[in-house]
Amino acid sequence: MGLFDFAKVMMVVYNLLILSGGGGLIAVGFWMHFTSDLLGSNVLGVFAVHTMNLINVDMYFISIGIVMFLLGCLGCCGAKKESKCLLIWFLSIIVIILVAELAIGLFALAYSSYIGTYLRSWARPALQNQYGRHFHFTELWNRTMTKLDCCGFNNYTDFTGSYYSKLYGEIYPSSCCGNTTLRCDLQNAKNSMVKGCFKWIEWALDEKLYILGAVAAGVAGTESGAVIVALYLFFYLDKDEMIKAA
Ligand SMILES: *[C@@H]1O[C@H](CO)[C@@H](O)[C@H](O)[C@H]1NC(C)=O
Ligand SMILES: *[C@@H]1O[C@H](CO)[C@@H](O)[C@H](O)[C@H]1NC(C)=O
Repeated sequence: MGLFDFAKVMMVVYNLLILSGGGGLIAVGFWMHFTSDLLGSNVLGVFAVHTMNLINVDMYFISIGIVMFLLGCLGCCGAKKESKCLLIWFLSIIVIILVAELAIGLFALAYSSYIGTYLRSWARPALQNQYGRHFHFTELWNRTMTKLDCCGFNNYTDFTGSYYSKLYGEIYPSSCCGNTTLRCDLQNAKNSMVKGCFKWIEWALDEKLYILGAVAAGVAGTESGAVIVALYLFFYLDKDEMIKAA
């Protein structure tokens, strides 16, 4: 078997990999879409109205999966038919995808450091003014704090002097005292040392970003291999054509 035949086989193998990777991503995307995990639906529900919608992991998986699937078909076809035209299409699309991935990666990196700062500046004032005032907001926070055994964004002091605390006379949400039946006043909240919810939220966000990053790296690695093989095939066919024409 010559180098050319070997490259053809490699091209088909790479593209079957891309194709099945695409299929896998679509499946995972749908699976994530239809199973509402604890962090996704409860904790992040608090921020759903805000920035969270930008990181829509399941839709990202599904769309990348579809493109990879089609790309895999295109690459396989190009190698099998020894078609320069299909190979050029394959190469152009894959280079565009690689550039887009790089851009998304850089964006995610910048975004992850920005989002923590943003949440910090947003959460405390929101708890101070809106907890106990707006039903939906209060309910989401109640659910988050009960599920995760946490209190406020940083800690119980987020409720000190808040609308809620003033309304009930220096009273804190019961989660701040570990959901006991005790009257949750300043002293009890202080003694029970319940942690703030920020750690959890940060963890959930980081997890999402790491999953995105790992998938992007895997996809980029496979694609880079396919680019090298496709380039070799293209130039081989090109040379071959010139020899035949001469
Ligand atoms: C509560 O959180 C604030 C803001 O992060 C911090 O300054 C303060 O020291 C914390 N208090 C306690 C008792 O942990
Ligand atoms: C949230 O919890 C507090 C006590 O922890 C309670 O007073 C309030 O009624 C709850 N609000 C909602 C909307 O669930």
